[in-house]
Amino acid sequence: MIYTKEEILSNHNFAQPNEMAGYLLHGGLNEEGEYISPRTRVRWKAVHQWTKILNDRGHELLDCSVDILKHDNFPSLNQAKLLLNQGEGQFLWNSLTITGIIEARGRALAEIEAPNFQNIIVEDISDTCVAHMNKGLFIAHGFDEGGDPDSDQGAHDQMWFASRDLLLGKESYPIPEVPESIGRPAKEREVPDLPIEHEGMLNLLLDVLMIEIRAESFFSYCMNLANAEDVFTDKREDALLAGEMVSRIRQDEAIHVAYLNLLISELRSFTFKTVDGREKKGSEIIDPLWQKMVQWHGEEVHRESVAIRSEEFVKLFEKINDSNLKSEFNSLSSNKELYSI
Ligand SMILES: [Fe+2]
Ligand SMILES: [Fe+2]
Repeated sequence: MIYTKEEILSNHNFAQPNEMAGYLLHGGLNEEGEYISPRTRVRWKAVHQWTKILNDRGHELLDCSVDILKHDNFPSLNQAKLLLNQGEGQFLWNSLTITGIIEARGRALAEIEAPNFQNIIVEDISDTCVAHMNKGLFIAHGFDEGGDPDSDQGAHDQMWFASRDLLLGKESYPIPEVPESIGRPAKEREVPDLPIEHEGMLNLLLDVLMIEIRAESFFSYCMNLANAEDVFTDKREDALLAGEMVSRIRQDEAIHVAYLNLLISELRSFTFKTVDGREKKGSEIIDPLWQKMVQWHGEEVHRESVAIRSEEFVKLFEKINDSNLKSEFNSLSSNKELYSI
């Protein structure tokens, strides 16, 4: 199916605006009061149709579930509860702030222009997701993350800040240092079979897909925390509102994982014309790069961020100076080898 940019970007006719905790936010509610993500009037239908076309050609989607990640969140849910119930919320305040700032940067996706993939693909790609990257899919994605500049509705950045403020207060701590980039650092040419601009786009797509999958695991964590009965006990109502806010962000993110997975899966299914005039299966080009991406995001960067957090927790426990609390914290770890203070 072929769609226009306007169709891809179109909204449902919402019955009510998405207003929460004093913020006017993107998306809206239907007659039953259920949340509907922004710009999904056509996007979901299109992704399902293109997925069917892919399946009918005998190809499957990649596994993009959180199962491909090797590790869970640190601190674990129970460790987080222990600290929060001691009034130590800075670790979570920092995580939520950093997530909001990084979401705002995601707005840049709206400016991206993919090179023409039809030039290097043998099959006709006109009724695929790949052919619609520049026809609204990147714009919709960028606006979902950091907001549509022509709208007064807030997007994910504001939704994370609002959740943080509900749970822990607006200016409770100083703004933490935010990593400059959360993608895999650029390497020299890794896909010499393709023109450099196509290699760059492939790297970007795989990187953003892995970032979205890692985010999914953070959503469940935040929702479990906000919805738990035994934490934020003095502000259950605010906590539930924050949980609902995160669940709306999560709903919006589902289409991001879905279309990026579909893009990669379609590209794997095509035959590429290499720069030296041969033909090569997409899967042979993409799979090695995907493996590296899964390894980096799931393992290497996780260990790095655990090391940074561990240092912060060491300092925190020095300040608290309560060895019982520290041993309780360590006993609640989900991976004693990796996550011990
Ligand atoms: Fe987002
Ligand atoms: Fe996203």
